Amino acid sequence: MTKRLGIFGYPLHHSLSPLFQQAALGALGIDAKFEGWPTKPEDFAQAVEGLRADDCLGCCITQPHKEAALELVDELDPPAEAIGAINTIVNTDGRLKGYNTDAPGFIRGLRESVGFEPEGRSALILGAGGAARGIVYALREAGVSRMAIANRTEERAQTLARDMSRARFRPDAISLDVDQLANFAPYADLIVNATSMGMRGGSADEESPLPPELISGNAVCYDAVYVPPVTPFLEASEGAGAQVAGGLSMLIYQGAEGFKLWTGQDAPVDVMFDAIPPTMRGD
Ligand code: ATR
Repeated sequence: MTKRLGIFGYPLHHSLSPLFQQAALGALGIDAKFEGWPTKPEDFAQAVEGLRADDCLGCCITQPHKEAALELVDELDPPAEAIGAINTIVNTDGRLKGYNTDAPGFIRGLRESVGFEPEGRSALILGAGGAARGIVYALREAGVSRMAIANRTEERAQTLARDMSRARFRPDAISLDVDQLANFAPYADLIVNATSMGMRGGSADEESPLPPELISGNAVCYDAVYVPPVTPFLEASEGAGAQVAGGLSMLIYQGAEGFKLWTGQDAPVDVMFDAIPPTMRGD
């Protein structure tokens, strides 16, 4: 029986997951089809129920369902529970388990694309939504020493900072106000854009969350956005002399973690990267 896998999201215009996951399944000779499943929020709960079928291995989840999905599974991997969002579900005999592979995918992407080792370093995270939650958790676990979380809606940054705080890790929470950003951005070893600003087709696709004059040439700047490969934030960061990387590595490595969970086999990440069209790779 051909197995089914897919990605839930709405809208689902830019998803590269069907492309690189199918290439990986094909390379390992796994008889499974990976599809795009555009699903409106009102239809999402029923669609998740459909994952319990015998022929379904599970799914990926992207905006806007990552938080809603948490309530719909039978069991949560502990990090997913701590993060408060899931991007992967595995179906085992009709039982659904939720995982967050964004967190390990981000750290692996950061290490492999720019060689950044978070332990003992300082970070500024821009954004406080689902993507930011996984990134803040991942950096905390990787031993970042100081962090500030900046978000348009400051209360959301405060909630995320509070949720992730523990004994020796207490992030500052600020707004995207220039005067507040000026206290952190120039001194951060790592700056991550985890907002949707700069994303093609989004409401702020020409904008960067950070004024260019606040970016230090000593920083590493990572954009979780991967369409386009060079966002306004990365362009400004490059202009400041910083080391930059786009979100493609996080996308592939979170998918590689999911692949292993669904199939039990290590993902062929080279095949996954090769499946991405050159125009989307930024090279
Ligand atoms: P995701 O799962 O991608 O994180 P999300 O949970 O909807 O999606 O979060 C989107 C993030 O981008 C939020 O931090 C959001 O800020 P708010 O919490 O204030 O909404 C941020 N964002 C989106 N559009 C923005 C814009 N035009 N200006 C500033 N921040 C924006």
